[in-house]
Amino acid sequence: MYDNLSNHSLRLREPQMKKIISLLLLSITVLTFAFSSPAFAADAAAGKKIFKANCASCHARGKNLVKASKNLKKETLEKYDMYSAEAIINQVTKGKGAMPAFGKKLKPEQIENVAAYVLEQADNGWKKK
Ligand code: HEC
Repeated sequence: MYDNLSNHSLRLREPQMKKIISLLLLSITVLTFAFSSPAFAADAAAGKKIFKANCASCHARGKNLVKASKNLKKETLEKYDMYSAEAIINQVTKGKGAMPAFGKKLKPEQIENVAAYVLEQADNGWKKK
């Protein structure tokens, strides 16, 4: 009698459990993909240190001390098609005009991080220190 009852309630719960488990698996998959995408892999906090050591001499607080018109403000980056990780990574790696190339000095990962920092600061109007 008791056995029958517990079997019965188990059978009732089974479909619900399956639903819950598949929902859990789905959210794990989604989260895994979200965090493995390049945008999430870059570390702006680490990029800040790279920026201070390599870029701030010419780009302190998002300015450009060599060529003032090519500063790192959001509107300027957008104007020159530089408002993307790809464009910044490309220019930092290869250099341009009076800006030196960092492709030999910095690792690809460091360049990704500094690009993430530049974009983050551009979004914040270079107010965060
Ligand atoms: C010696 C000075 C100097 C250093 C150091 C330097 N830059 Fe530059 N940067 C420049 C100059 C000059 C330009 C403008 C290049 C051009 O278009 O003629 C520029 C342009 C840029 C631009 C494009 C800005 C725009 O509005 O188009 C970005 C982004 C940038 N630099 C990021 C960096 C980063 C990140 C670093 C450090 C890894 C760095 N720079 C180091 C001088 C420098």
